[in-house]
Amino acid sequence: MPRMEVLATPAAMRRWRHRVSGSVGFVPTMGYLHEGHMQLVRRSTGENLHTVVSIFVNPTQFAPGEDFERYPRDEVRDLELLRLAGVGAVYLPSAAEMYPPGYQTYVDVEKVTVPLEGASRPGHFRGVTTVVLKLLNAVQPQKAYFGRKDAQQLRVVKRMVLDLDLDCEIVPCDIVREPDGLAMSSRNVYLTLEQRAAAPVIRRALLEARGLYESGERDADRLRATALAVLAREPLGTVEYISLADDVTLEELSGAVRGPALLSTVVRFGATRLLDNVELG
Ligand code: PAF
Repeated sequence: MPRMEVLATPAAMRRWRHRVSGSVGFVPTMGYLHEGHMQLVRRSTGENLHTVVSIFVNPTQFAPGEDFERYPRDEVRDLELLRLAGVGAVYLPSAAEMYPPGYQTYVDVEKVTVPLEGASRPGHFRGVTTVVLKLLNAVQPQKAYFGRKDAQQLRVVKRMVLDLDLDCEIVPCDIVREPDGLAMSSRNVYLTLEQRAAAPVIRRALLEARGLYESGERDADRLRATALAVLAREPLGTVEYISLADDVTLEELSGAVRGPALLSTVVRFGATRLLDNVELG
């Protein structure tokens, strides 16, 4: 297996990129890799000659008081997993390299960042789009792989790529779940045993609403209420939002659902926010 290179600066990343020829696939991550990340990696290694994975816990996408400092990290294990997966390069910049003194440039995508996570986490998407653009600039991939779990992030990044004429295909990848239906997330380690046992209620709630949709129900309020009723039966979870929105613009739907829609939710277990979604239609 060829040696995996670990690159710590944008300049080193660019030098590596200029040395290789053939297609490059890119998987941006914040590390603490789980099977969800590894499926993105495998998709990329299957579709490209080279795969780059970035590991960077991006401070600008965390609001003050969020979990930036305690976000789980395990660089040694991550690098070993990526080496075994046949990744060509890992881009592992420091915050000082990404945001040196004097840094003052940010990317703002407008409407699609406003609802849902944008409303709950002010400034979050400004941090995400800024870092994703910086990563794409350094890596220059033909394809970049994003999970469908962060459904709004996927739509925001697609919008940015379109609006800024970036020459990169954004490839959405399916959510990877634990056997009991809980979507995989690095933040699942924060859950207590009781919270972890209760958390699959999120998937059950979304599936109940999707079942109703598939049996012909199109009323947006009734679909949201169905998911909410299942969630309400779980006392350990607090629903932050349940949304049924246009699949592309993420504008909240009222009345009859006519086109593709995204049913998404955030449920808090203690201080841990768990996201999940299903696509309808
Ligand atoms: O989804 C994530 O892990 C992050 O938001 C990303 C895309 C790596 C940007 O920091």
